[in-house]
This record gives sequence, C-alpha cells and structure tokens, in this order.
Amino acid sequence: MKVLIVGSGGREHALAWACSRSNLKPSIICVPGNGGTIPIAHNLDKNPEDISQLADFIKRERIDLTIIGPEAPLVSGLADKITGNGQLVFGPSALASRMEGSKAFSKKALHEAGVPTADFQVFTDFQSARSFIESTPSPLVIKASGLAAGKGVIICDTKDLAVAAAEGMLTRDAFGASGRKIVIEECLTGKEISLLALVDGTDYILLPPSRDHKRALDFDRGPNTGGMGAYAPLDDISSEEFSEIAKQVFPPILKWMADSGINYQGCLFAGIMLTPTGPSVLEFNCRFGDPETQAVLPLLNYDILELMLSVAESRLGKVMQSEGFISLLWEQISKVQHSVCVVAVADGYPGSYKKDIPIDGLPDENDDVIPFHAGTAVHDNKLLTSGGRVLAITGLGDTHDDAVKRAYQAIEEVKFESIRYRRDIGRSIT
Ligand code: AMP
Ligand code: GLY
Repeated sequence: MKVLIVGSGGREHALAWACSRSNLKPSIICVPGNGGTIPIAHNLDKNPEDISQLADFIKRERIDLTIIGPEAPLVSGLADKITGNGQLVFGPSALASRMEGSKAFSKKALHEAGVPTADFQVFTDFQSARSFIESTPSPLVIKASGLAAGKGVIICDTKDLAVAAAEGMLTRDAFGASGRKIVIEECLTGKEISLLALVDGTDYILLPPSRDHKRALDFDRGPNTGGMGAYAPLDDISSEEFSEIAKQVFPPILKWMADSGINYQGCLFAGIMLTPTGPSVLEFNCRFGDPETQAVLPLLNYDILELMLSVAESRLGKVMQSEGFISLLWEQISKVQHSVCVVAVADGYPGSYKKDIPIDGLPDENDDVIPFHAGTAVHDNKLLTSGGRVLAITGLGDTHDDAVKRAYQAIEEVKFESIRYRRDIGRSIT
C-alpha cells in the first residue's frame, strides 16, 4: 500500500510515525516531510500548495491513500482534485474545509446547528464594524474570517483596541484577503480543550481529548503561536463530562453538514472553551491539530491508518460496528497512558528567527519518549533547523506527571543555538 502524507511539520511526522507502525505496512511518501520523516518515508521536495501538480503526481504514482496535514491545501481543494481522479484521500473537500477556511461560515453553521458558541456579528465594512463595537460592551474578540496561520484572532480589552484591530483588517489589509471579512464576537473565559474526531460523512469517533498551550511564553504570556506544547488526556474533566460536551458539538454539526449537502471526511477539530455557563465552540479546524497530534497519536492502541482508510472509503461506521466502538468513547481506542509534548522553537518565533542551525543531543526514540521533528532538515548528514517550531518531543507515562518529567528530561538534552521552550507545558492548566 502506498500512502502519501502532505505537509512538513510535527503533525506530519507524527502521522508518518503512526502509519509506519501500521499493520497495513505502507510505503510512505512525505511531501515535503522533514528531517524526522527521512528514516521512515521517502521525502519528496514538492510544494504542497501547488495542488494541480501534486494531484497529477498522486495519480501517476497510483497512491492508495493521501493524508493531507495542513489547512491551506485542503481549503484550496487538493482533496477534491484527488477524489476527482478516483483516488482515496483523508481530508475534507474545499466546501467542507470552509469549517476552518471561513470563520463567518463556521459561525453561521454553529448558530444554525444550535451548537453553543459566542455571540457574534460578521462585517465587511469598517464604519458598520465601528458602530457595532462602540455600542457593545468590551472586551471583544476580532477575528479575520479567512486563514491567517493562527494569527488572525485579536482579543481586545478596550473599544479603542477593537476599533484599531477592525480597521487594520478591513481597511489596511492587515491579513490580506483573509481579513476583508471579520467576525466580532463576545470574549469568553474558561479552560480550553481540543476535541478531535475522525468523521466519514456520517459516523465519527473521538480521539483522546487534549489541550494545547498557544502563547509563546511561560504562564501564558507573549504572543499566540501555532502551539508550544500539548498534553492528553485531561485529568481535570471526567469521561462523562467529555461525552456530554462532545454530544453538544458533533452530532448537531454533522447533521447540519449533511442537511446542507456537505460531505465531511477527515479529522474535524473543535476548539472548545469551558465557560462558567457551559462549553462553547471557539473554532473548528478541518485537520489534525499541531502539536495535539504529537500528543494524541502515541496514545492510540488502534491502527490509525486503518481508521483513516475507512474514513476515506466511507466505512468508518462499519468498522465501529464490527469492533463495538461507540462514537463518544475515546478510551476504546486509547492506551491507559498520558502524554505530554513540549515544542522547542528557534528564539524569535513566532516572529523572525534564524534557520540552518545545527542540532545536537536529540534523544533516540524509546517506549517513553518520541522526538518528533517539526522544522528540521538534513544537509550533508547534519541535522539543521529549518523552521520556527523545530522539535516536538513527546513523553509518555502512566501518570500525567511521569509524562511531563520524561518530556522535559528528553528536551533538556537537546542543544542548538537559540533553542527555547516553555517550562510549564502540562504544568499549568491553560
Ligand atoms: P481561534 O483561532 O478562533 O481558535 O482562536 C485562537 C485562540 O483565541 C483560541 O484558542 C482562544 O484562546 C482565543 N479565542 C478565540 N475566540 C475567543 C473568544 N470568543 N473569547 C476568548 N478567547 C477567544
Ligand atoms: N494547536 C492548534 C491548531 O493546530 O490549530
């Protein structure tokens, strides 16, 4: 079986790692992959965003299953091109990917489906946005509707800041075309959780719940990033509470999509805030989370490639029936273990940072530690940094505290000039 994984981050290394352990014994191609995927896959230096060229390659090579990691090629329609060629893909169509690609669309979907979400209004005109902000209590959250690489959400404590954020997006192209439509919503407070489900259009199964740490610095200070660490599962929420939360989100939104003629096949990721008045969906992503994937996949005791293939073939429900799985019970496919993933970045990230720095001291993989790579590359047999998020080191243990300890023991051995990581991953509840 030939599997092709699109993307180059820690998430894609974790997907390749999980596939490489599958009973289906796939040969794996990563486009473009990273330094960590070299031993388990064939890295191919192609641009994942050139979707026509990539779909042609996938057809020519008769790839059996393509797994699309990042949101940009999904939103651009890579999955549609592959299915149009009669091939299998794990990842939603462009239409279904609007759940992430357009916050205006996903907020409308949430509202119509009756899923709890913050009150909101959508604007394309700055004067109307300003009048709304001036007549609404602060704080407010201003969001670019389109994709903005995790940077398009601005939490504004005052009306002046909210007006400035809206003005930047609507009149000064602060996020290009992505910010020409904005969502303004009420600011919520509470703990956040990431719920990921595999969805085949009709049926779904939850993966272990996780939580990421988005801010760059310890104790949730500094700018938002793609994610500085994650852990799974969550000891502060019971299994019954999860089922209750997930029940309020997944069945109604999947029914809304089915009623709207949207066939969602892939991973649906709900970012949820547990507010004092109940769960509220902050966002949907049309893909696995990064770094949630590096924490979640090592916990699974069921073959994720089998599950992804069944999603692509619209037979997840059949697999679940034959295995006796129930959608809301993630424990059925998970070991009784904990994982903590700590991300090492190049200093400066999420702003500008140096690349091509030699990396030393990377620990070998063992039962308790998996050193996933994110922005790494190999040149002349030397491992170098090639991105802002460089490594995503996952520790595993019988308890959450053991997992924290192992992740940190491992990352402390790694040396590269300008390495930086948060010291409080899994230690502070965000
Ligand atoms: P999003 O891309 O919509 O998930 O937003 C990124 C981050 O911004 C979330 O993980 C939250 O930490 C924060 N956020 C988004 N929406 C809200 C909101 N309505 N109230 C408070 N924080 C929010
Ligand atoms: N860790 C959040 C995301 O993948 O969007």
